[in-house]
This record gives sequence, structure tokens and C-alpha cells, in this order.
Amino acid sequence: MKDPTNGKVIIITGASSGIGAAVARRLARDGMRLTLAARRLDRLEQVAAEVEALGGEALVVQTDVRNRDELQRMVQATLDRWGHIDVLLNNAGLDHDRLLIRFKPEKIRDEIHINLIAVIECAQVVLPVMLRQKSGHIINVASIAGLIATPGGTVYSASKFGVNGFSDALRREFHGSGIQISAFCPGYTPTEISPELKAIAEGRPDAPRVPGLMPVTYVADQIARLIRHPRRRVIIPPGWKFLVIIAFLFPGIADALLPLFLKKEKTDKK
Ligand SMILES: NC(=O)c1ccc[n+]([C@@H]2O[C@H](COP(=O)([O-])OP(=O)(O)OC[C@H]3O[C@@H](n4cnc5c(N)ncnc54)[C@H](OP(=O)(O)O)[C@@H]3O)[C@@H](O)[C@H]2O)c1
Repeated sequence: MKDPTNGKVIIITGASSGIGAAVARRLARDGMRLTLAARRLDRLEQVAAEVEALGGEALVVQTDVRNRDELQRMVQATLDRWGHIDVLLNNAGLDHDRLLIRFKPEKIRDEIHINLIAVIECAQVVLPVMLRQKSGHIINVASIAGLIATPGGTVYSASKFGVNGFSDALRREFHGSGIQISAFCPGYTPTEISPELKAIAEGRPDAPRVPGLMPVTYVADQIARLIRHPRRRVIIPPGWKFLVIIAFLFPGIADALLPLFLKKEKTDKK
């Protein structure tokens, strides 16, 4: 039977690598029409060629999510091409991954801008379109680090807790409007987001071991599933939900345990 979600129009920010590119390839198989947005044009064009070869349609719009005019241009280009927007996958992000004491102030601002402010602004430029349509789905890519705050990831956790809070508030603001809002919270996935995860993605022998690692194709499958069946929040891998509940209900236990796993490693390295 033909999937009723086939042919949806989806904007993917951060489509030039990692999770965004994997989602584009996954959705192409369902014949989706995809606006691919990020800064690296060559990488976007490479993903677009793969999307077209897999049966999807792709529109490349070079976009820096920190620039509101470029976000407007991304939305307008999508409307000019396909006339409507079904899904915004608010995925662009980065992780400078430093102990706070070693963070350069401009890097703090940049990380908060890309991971949180741009997610809010991107939703804000897409929402008028979805309100006119009386339908749409915004998926904000947060992280398990936006539910369990990790030592060595202060700025990243601050930004991703922000994305979770923003998503919950926005969902309540648009309750009953026909617009769905989801927060997507993955754990470790081998992509280019950090040197450690990049080493794993490249299969390097010196790559570190990280807990609960998921293939990027599995993460993409879960986003494709979320598009078919919208939910408030998805946490993967599912086993981490238990830790999220423990950290929420018993923060003292999390305070004692998390530094044992994470802080020494980061203190040694950076
Ligand atoms: N990998 C993980 O373990 C993990 C876990 C939890 C959550 N996440 C989240 O998943 C999302 C995707 O990350 P990833 O793991 O796939 O990392 P990635 O491979 O480094 O991809 C990040 C994407 O964001 C884009 N981006 C960064 N800054 C941008 C800007 N100013 N304007 C436009 N695009 C920008 C990059 O494109 P350009 O450089 O070409 O602009 C790239 O396409 C992020 O929000 C990340 O926080 C990842």
C-alpha cells in the first residue's frame, strides 16, 4: 500500500552531513520533496544528487541559520518550488564540547545561536505558512544532553535544554491548531559533530568507545517514523529513558555518577 506521507515537502536544516544528510537519504526513498539547507554548498549538492537518485526531489538552498534573511529565503524558495511546507526538521547544530573554563566567549555565543536561537527563529519564519495551511509539523532536534545535563557539555546542554523547553512551550501554544511540534532527543550517533564521533564514523582504530552508540541510519529511520506518527518527544536509544527519569527524580544520584563517567575524560583531553 502506498504510504500516505509520500511526497511531503520537508525542510531539513543541517542537511549537508550527519543526521540531516542521513534523513534526506531515508526520506528520498519515500519520494519526499526536500529543501536541503546548510552552509557547505558542495556537500548539499552531493546529498541532493543522492536524493534524486533514490527517488526523491531536492532543492538546495545555501543557508546560514544564524542569518534571519537567509531563513526567510529558504522558506520562500521552498514555497516557490512546491507551494507549501509539511515539515520543518530543525536539525542544524554543533557541539564545541569544552569545559566551561576553557570556552572562548564568542564560541559560547555561537553555539547558543546555532543550537537554540536559530531553532526558534526557523520555527518563527515557518509558522505563518503552517498557520495559513492549518497543518504542519515542526521537529526540533534536541539531544539526550537536553534532558540529562553533562559535565564538560555545559553550553551544549544549556542550548539543548532550551530546545526541549521551547518545543514544549510551542506545542502548548499551538495546541489544537493542526500544527504538530516534536522534540527529537538522540544519544550518541557517529557524525561529524565532534572529533570523537567523527573518528567512530570513519572507523578509525583509535576511535573511542562511547555508550549507547546508534548508527546514523537508525536515527534517520526514527525521524522518518516521527514524521509518519507525530509525537511530543522521542528519546533514543530507548534504554536511556530510564537514565532520564533517574536524573529527573534523583538529581543527587546523577550528580554523583555522571562526573565519574564523563568529567575525567574531558578534563584530561581539553
Ligand atoms: N551526533 C550526535 O551524537 C548527536 C546527538 C544528539 C543530538 N545531535 C544533534 O543532531 C543535529 C545534527 O548533528 P550531527 O550529529 O548530524 O552533526 P554534523 O554531522 O556535524 O551536522 C551538523 C549540521 O549542522 C549544520 N550547521 C552547523 N552550523 C550551521 C549554520 N550556522 N547554518 C546552517 N547549518 C549549520 C552543518 O552544515 P554546514 O557546516 O554545512 O553549515 C551540518 O549539516 C545537531 O542539532 C546535534 O546537536 C547529535
